Amino acid sequence: MQRLIPTLRSDQVDLELLMLIRTVLAGCKEISFRVSQGALGGVLGSTLDENIQGEQQKKLDVIANQLLKSMLLNDTNVRAIASEEEDSIVAAHEDGKYLVAFDPLDGSSNIDINGQIGTIFTILPAIKELSADDPKQFEQSGRNQLAAGYVLYGPSTMLVLTTGSKTRCFTLDRTHGGFLLTNDEVSVPLQTQEFSINMANSRFWFEPTKFYINDLLQGESGIRKKRFNMRWNAAMVGDIHRVLTRGGIFLYPEDKRDPAKPAKLRLLYEAMPMAMLVENAGGKASTGLQDILDITPDGLHQRVPVIMGSSDEVERCCYYYTD
Ligand code: AHG
Ligand code: MN
Ligand code: MN
Ligand code: MN
Repeated sequence: MQRLIPTLRSDQVDLELLMLIRTVLAGCKEISFRVSQGALGGVLGSTLDENIQGEQQKKLDVIANQLLKSMLLNDTNVRAIASEEEDSIVAAHEDGKYLVAFDPLDGSSNIDINGQIGTIFTILPAIKELSADDPKQFEQSGRNQLAAGYVLYGPSTMLVLTTGSKTRCFTLDRTHGGFLLTNDEVSVPLQTQEFSINMANSRFWFEPTKFYINDLLQGESGIRKKRFNMRWNAAMVGDIHRVLTRGGIFLYPEDKRDPAKPAKLRLLYEAMPMAMLVENAGGKASTGLQDILDITPDGLHQRVPVIMGSSDEVERCCYYYTD
């Protein structure tokens, strides 16, 4: 099986970008080890702190953030980083060619139940006209992403990565510590009979979401004339990994729960990298009204509605929002 670096070399990925991806993955391998130790490594449970978005931080949110942050700040290819767990950006090296944004630990509520969790990251080009500590550097369209990926800490640790062309899967081989290519070209089936949404929010949904999900729930006797199944992992990495593997539609729509936070998922380090992975695997990623990759963030922690997965199904779903 082919190793990661020769695979990326054959894609003509810039050497510096390749080195940077290696740094991100060195952090993820360390997180993977700590995760696998569970209670033995003292990584379970909560801290007493909150992040800037008002979420109580788990110990592993903080540990994963520290590990990635310190490794990335040491990499001279990095100009600045942004993280879910950092209020603002952190400047690194003036001459660094790249910006890295990450969700150090996605699916925090699964940490203590030994469920699926992961790390999501995106790499953008540095903007030399702005200073290294200017958060506006990260205000770039999703189409500017040079690389996007996630590492899923599941029964096996997997990397799903795109550097602009295909979306590929690698599996961490613990015997030698490297990621080996296990799917050279992820391809999301166009159609699906599986949806993924937190149904507990249904009373807060707006009409387009209510009507769409209601049509799916009618099964064979409804206008869709087919039976749909439902899955919800409470970790975007787990849900999107399933969608990339066997198709499906994943939704975290806008709702009326908290007018200050109409959407839940963050654009820069959750929706945007996942959208690139899904699109490069032949799927679609939308807010309902526009492609996620066409949005330019106007803040580091900006939230967006997310609808992504099998392209025929995402298209059908979007009709409900645009009609
Ligand atoms: P994070 O753990 O990084 O804060 O992200 C959690 C997100 C995402 O992974 C998941 O899809 C969603 O929150 C789960 O939300 P619910 O708690 O509403 O199920
Ligand atoms: Mn969080
Ligand atoms: Mn997350
Ligand atoms: Mn997180």
